[in-house]
Amino acid sequence: MTMTDSTSTVRGISDTARWVAYFRALETQRSDALFRDPYAERLAGEHGYQIANTLRDGNKHEWAWVARTYLFDQFLSRAIQQGADLVLNLAAGLDARPYRMNLPATLQWVEVDLADIVSYKEKILGNEKPGCRLERVSLDLSDLAGRRKLFAEINGRAMKVVVASEGLLIYFSAEEVASLARDLAAGEHFQSWIIDLASPGQLRLMQRTSGKQLSEAGAAFKFGPPEGANFFAPQGWEPKDVQGMLKTAAQFKRAPAELLSLLPEPKGNFGNYPWTGVCLLNRR
Ligand SMILES: C[S@@+](CC[C@H](N)C(=O)[O-])C[C@H]1O[C@@H](n2cnc3c(N)ncnc32)[C@H](O)[C@@H]1O
Repeated sequence: MTMTDSTSTVRGISDTARWVAYFRALETQRSDALFRDPYAERLAGEHGYQIANTLRDGNKHEWAWVARTYLFDQFLSRAIQQGADLVLNLAAGLDARPYRMNLPATLQWVEVDLADIVSYKEKILGNEKPGCRLERVSLDLSDLAGRRKLFAEINGRAMKVVVASEGLLIYFSAEEVASLARDLAAGEHFQSWIIDLASPGQLRLMQRTSGKQLSEAGAAFKFGPPEGANFFAPQGWEPKDVQGMLKTAAQFKRAPAELLSLLPEPKGNFGNYPWTGVCLLNRR
């Protein structure tokens, strides 16, 4: 096979899941790992390694990927401790949290993603045992009727739902994100939603680097709202806790020295400031 064949390039949006798994595999190898994902290396596979090392800047900013995973772990653990009885992971990709986190056996965990990546994951993890009640759903989240049906069904069988969408919203337009937010807010038992977010300045940086090849593969970076997490308030979701990835990486001495001058973060909207973070939103 050559460097331009299917194992070295992004073939579509679901291949971005292999890219993220590559960084989880790298972190797992460190003696000071902030989390360990023993499945990541197998899930990323050779193709994940090739993607990270072929995309422009694709193997850089390890600190940001690690901070994102760490923050989602923290927010999810807290929501579960506070009584969430169902985790709805939208665009779960190759995430292995149901296998690697310490979870109540009674917890329901529903993963949603496109059919190809769901079946790939099933092949790799099919014989492993998750720590909770895990289900996988193949669904295109742009299918409005399909997702509304799923959300209504989930709303009917859980009391406290925490939604997670890690690495998804950036691939949607602002209108698509707003529509998804409204559909999620329609469920009275949907209590919180954990998202990651980029500022407009960060979005532009990403569009100029890895975003070029991703865009050609149909996975363009699109969403970085000027309002930041306040974008979600009119759609029924109040920002409750917003944590910057650079600040988080700096707490663990993982932030690159040349970026430390960007701290402390500015207050309010981030505009041109290159910011990424993880936000906990509560249903209003
Ligand atoms: C960057 S990956 C993130 C995967 C995972 N959340 C993680 O952090 O490892 C983006 C994921 O979004 C999924 N995705 C993108 N558009 C989607 C859609 N319309 N419906 C369902 N999943 C989608 C892709 O298949 C891919 O698994």
